[in-house]
Amino acid sequence: MSAKLTTNDLDAFWMPFTANRQFKTAPRMFVSADRMHYTTDDGRRVLDGTAGLWCVNAGHCRPKIVEAIQRQAAALDFAPTFQMGHPKVFEAASKLVNIAPSGFNHVFFTNSGSESVETALKMAIAYHRARGNASKVRLIGRERGYHGVNLGGTSVGGIANNRKMFGALMTGVDHLRHTHDLERNAFSRGEPEHGAELADDLERLVALHDASTIAAVIVEPVACSAGVLIPPKGYLTRLADICARHDILLVMDEVITGFGRLGAPFGADYFGISPDIITTAKGITNGVVPMGAVLVTSKIHDAFMTGPDYVIEFFHGYTYSGNPMACAAVIATLETYQEEGLLTRAAELARYWEEAMHALEGLPHVIDIRNIGLTGAIELDPVPGEPTRRAYRRFVDAFERGLLVRATGDTIALSPPLIIEKAQIDELFDILTKVLKTAK
Ligand SMILES: Cc1ncc(COP(=O)(O)O)c(C=O)c1O
Repeated sequence: MSAKLTTNDLDAFWMPFTANRQFKTAPRMFVSADRMHYTTDDGRRVLDGTAGLWCVNAGHCRPKIVEAIQRQAAALDFAPTFQMGHPKVFEAASKLVNIAPSGFNHVFFTNSGSESVETALKMAIAYHRARGNASKVRLIGRERGYHGVNLGGTSVGGIANNRKMFGALMTGVDHLRHTHDLERNAFSRGEPEHGAELADDLERLVALHDASTIAAVIVEPVACSAGVLIPPKGYLTRLADICARHDILLVMDEVITGFGRLGAPFGADYFGISPDIITTAKGITNGVVPMGAVLVTSKIHDAFMTGPDYVIEFFHGYTYSGNPMACAAVIATLETYQEEGLLTRAAELARYWEEAMHALEGLPHVIDIRNIGLTGAIELDPVPGEPTRRAYRRFVDAFERGLLVRATGDTIALSPPLIIEKAQIDELFDILTKVLKTAK
């Protein structure tokens, strides 16, 4: 166990997406982790109800992944992937293609979900240009969508707090209406019944801007960061059909839903959709090394493979695209997922999880419960005039009782590692029940 830090030691680190001043008066620190648990700096075990930050799908500190990184760091620390290569990056890409939805034959590596999104947006615009449609440049996101924090992702994103500090953002961006509908769909189990017609909102934007100006639509299959907003039955199929009709690329942002969260390898598999581009990160290395990947079909990739063969086809990339340690982590992670059946394990647990979640109905302030695969959310009515306070208090209370949940707005989101056992699901919901019954 490490020595406890004092308030003064905490000053230098400006924490991301955190109420810094409050945190530093009462810090919450993890010093180690193993499978389903964290250990705090005062020696308490905390059950991980959020897979870290939606990323540790195989549980913590898995020896196969740890050893792969250690070996790689000692053998080849860094090699450029601009005009050079190393075997692990090709192996990692091939392994990804093997588990990707059919037709996704090519992989572009990044270092995060945000970078995957920027890459996908640039790719979409450049794809149309390569095919002679240089006017197709507009990007369509969705209200309440989250696509990371870079300028493109913030622009197509639809969470007001993430946008309002940053000026006008990118031009040429518009948004579909969100699909969250408490009036019609509260306490739905899995995909809600009502709202497929909201996909037709894309036709409204096509009528407004004309399809000849629109490059792509980007949506999360399940909008997890905004509180696990699950698409209404039929919505995604309808959206995909409209995109295809207007030659608009469909980008599915699977930074969270990729790698087994819903019970299939990807959300595209789960919902039976064929997008053009899939963005990933997080679970790709089990959260251990920063890494992201953009998966594309041959239709996209091949459109770039023209002109003289000595000329760079896509003027884009990161110093750490395909970093050797990250690639070693990808390979060991995907092997772990496959050896342990984790890409489909959520499907086996989904019913048990659903029952446990919906047993919370009727507890104080609970106004909705949503679930899909091995994720879900409990929405609370906000304290009047003090949005986010109610869920934040419950997050702190859960932590003190030995459970990590995620508070997002006035919603408590859950997404445990996919190795969770039924007894641990029971434990998670026992703690959460106490929290919801007693927290102020
Ligand atoms: C759908 C989606 N896209 C992009 C991101 C950004 O990923 P990162 O934080 O790795 O940049 C996230 C992060 O939660 C996400 O959920």
